[in-house]
Amino acid sequence: MTDVQNKPSAAAGTTAKKVVPPGPTRVHAAPPVPPKPITAERYISESWMQREFDVMWSRTWLFACLERDLSIPGQYVVFNLGRESILVTRNDDGEVGAFYNVCQHRGARLMVNDRSWVRNFVCPYHGWTYDHAGKLTVVPDAERFSPPVDCEQRSLKPVRVEVWAGLVFVNMDHDAVPLREYLGGVAELVDPYRLENMVFMTDKTVQLDCNWKAVFDNFGELYHVEHIHPQHQLLFDCPTAQLDLFANGHTGVVIDGHIVNSRLPIPETPNFYLEHQLKVYGANPADYEGRVLDIRKDVQKMRREAGPRLGFDYDALSDERLSDIEQYNLFPNTMLTLQPESGLVMRSRPHPTDPNKCYWDQFTFRMAPDPEVAKRAGVSYEPHPSTLFEQPERPEHDEFTQDDIIAGHKTMTITIDQDVHLIRDIQKGMHSRGFETAQLCQDEDRIQHYHDWLDYFMGVR
Ligand code: FES
Ligand SMILES: [Fe+2]
Repeated sequence: MTDVQNKPSAAAGTTAKKVVPPGPTRVHAAPPVPPKPITAERYISESWMQREFDVMWSRTWLFACLERDLSIPGQYVVFNLGRESILVTRNDDGEVGAFYNVCQHRGARLMVNDRSWVRNFVCPYHGWTYDHAGKLTVVPDAERFSPPVDCEQRSLKPVRVEVWAGLVFVNMDHDAVPLREYLGGVAELVDPYRLENMVFMTDKTVQLDCNWKAVFDNFGELYHVEHIHPQHQLLFDCPTAQLDLFANGHTGVVIDGHIVNSRLPIPETPNFYLEHQLKVYGANPADYEGRVLDIRKDVQKMRREAGPRLGFDYDALSDERLSDIEQYNLFPNTMLTLQPESGLVMRSRPHPTDPNKCYWDQFTFRMAPDPEVAKRAGVSYEPHPSTLFEQPERPEHDEFTQDDIIAGHKTMTITIDQDVHLIRDIQKGMHSRGFETAQLCQDEDRIQHYHDWLDYFMGVR
């Protein structure tokens, strides 16, 4: 039994929950195939996994790395996805490029470090050397090749690459539509948060004993939140969240924040989290006794008014975005969680050979207050102490196992740790003869939408 099973959960409590209508599901683009029940096959079958590599990963835009890790020519990042490996770099003309990370002599993996800087890409086996644009420039003992090596033809094989929101995406399909078109309206919703301007705070990967889609599904519904993340009831109203279903399998959710869970009894006084937020904007929490549900709207007004003085530019963000939280799942494997002063980018990657294992990457970002914002607005700069923080150098990548989290030695924030406790057991359940199909509720519309589009990309009819 995991320790999560021993913890009291909000949903399992004795309090009767109110019936609250779920938020609307807005369908921006219906899947091009009819919905099908979700079975275990896609989570456990090696042939399904192989087909994902053959026809799905090979023709979708994939978040590969952060653009800030390619700030000068010759800096590179290796993006490993299952058995495939892609080298992303910046060339001497300042352009970001991507190549299959494989030497064109006899197929050795070219760069083996995750991230670094090099003068040239030199194959560790026989020394074939490629420049920052992937061009083959040096072949040791070239005169021994007959016919001679054609350096044009034997240069690194390019992969499509585009940068958006400070994130570098690659696509192995040269005929793919441009990234922004592929994102089908999500890019315009994410742009105002200016993720690319936020400070990069942490870089972590956890190795998990589950299929990569189990992680993605977990971020496709809020149905589990009351049950395993009781802390969220103090700050968000998950049961009324609004879902968005976009083309190409992307989905989103908008959750009211600076509020409490509307299904549970409304407290008389602001809780610890709400009290803190009110103080940041100079409000007196005592004024909200008996009117906790007014905090959300008032925070929007206070934040708008106080933003420039505190060093935050909210001009591009709507009032709702000053109180709420938004999350977008980009097909097939990238998850973005956004608030005005924080960003969370996550990605689940398949294991090279085992459908029962995956990697869950987490990059966290934080907006730093900027005195220039106050200056531009002609007000005095008065940052709140809780928004000031030491801006780290590029954080070290930390990789660990799910057992490190379960033992309490590592953390990816309390909420994700709670998810990690559960997800490996989902994978175990998938192997049971007793499991036939998933039955999804309305809160899980994003999961069905995602899997329908997955079926489309997989060619399942
Ligand atoms: S395999 Fe790379 S130089 Fe031989
Ligand atoms: Fe969760």
